[in-house]
Amino acid sequence: MNYVKGNNGLYYEVVPWHSKQKHEFLRHYLNVWSEMVGNHSKSVPSLDIIDLYASWGQCSCIEIGEEWPGTAALAAECLNRYARPGLLFLNTYNANIEELKLQEQNLFTILASFNIKSKIVTLPIEEAVDVALNEANLQYPTLWLLDPYGPKQLPWSVVEKICSSKRQYKDKYGNLHTRRPEIMINLMTSSLQREIHNQNVVCGSLGISEEQWKTLEQKSCSGNTTSVIVDAYAERLSQFYEKPPIRFLVKGKHGNIVYSILLFTDSDAGHYVTKVHKMPEFDKWLKVEWSKSAEEIVAKKNLPKSQSFLDRFN
Ligand SMILES: C[S@@+](CC[C@H](N)C(=O)[O-])C[C@H]1O[C@@H](n2cnc3c(N)ncnc32)[C@H](O)[C@@H]1O
Repeated sequence: MNYVKGNNGLYYEVVPWHSKQKHEFLRHYLNVWSEMVGNHSKSVPSLDIIDLYASWGQCSCIEIGEEWPGTAALAAECLNRYARPGLLFLNTYNANIEELKLQEQNLFTILASFNIKSKIVTLPIEEAVDVALNEANLQYPTLWLLDPYGPKQLPWSVVEKICSSKRQYKDKYGNLHTRRPEIMINLMTSSLQREIHNQNVVCGSLGISEEQWKTLEQKSCSGNTTSVIVDAYAERLSQFYEKPPIRFLVKGKHGNIVYSILLFTDSDAGHYVTKVHKMPEFDKWLKVEWSKSAEEIVAKKNLPKSQSFLDRFN
């Protein structure tokens, strides 16, 4: 079972502890919008958030008994605080129809406590992206969250559609600029690493040719496969974005890289603020909170069964 019902009647996606890093990264980035762009700029732009893999909207880590907001709930919290909230577009999809209905209802219930404009759809990603592109106000900033379980669930064609959706706008001096959607992608580097010899999976996910895949396969044998994969993806997306992505590697409790979060944005403000103001804080959280708890989980796992009650709350 990959979900549980809480005492409050709401459902939670059951997640491993390491996934909290992904949500903390997103929370920090959303704070850049709600606390800095939304508060300090004279003319606050409207902001849409599009979460195409919203799932249950909130998470529960059974291992340590902690619950926290998922990508959809974090996005709702951000827009609720933001000075000029636009649309929150959520898509969730599940081959199991009963679960899909429960997920949809759960998202409705979560959103009911926020005062924001929202739309929820339940479509496979290839259809959801077209509906979302129609609904989003691309003249203004849009943030797209792409958080699949595996590389096969996020085909390159979907990413390409979003990145290609540029719009022109004039600044206050009359200069013309191009605006592209901001995208946070969870690139499943550990799965891609395992599938590195599978041409269909790698090409279909990274949007590269057979020739480029062969070079990638060779490079991966002689070096750090994760960075070879991330570099290839960043290179592919550099066709759309002038600035390199902000990268964040999510590590499992033994220090292994599970997946890589990549944030593509050409906004100067986004880059400056993220690097100069917010990410040092995030690193601090990661060092203090995450590594402490991760060590405790490893310690707990190594204990004899009779002592398994020992956890971070004791
Ligand atoms: C990693 S979970 C998303 C977790 C969520 N973003 C969070 O952190 O709160 C991935 C989700 O993708 C959904 N999914 C799987 N295949 C999909 C597809 N073809 N199209 C859209 N969603 C899909 C799954 O049902 C699952 O809910």
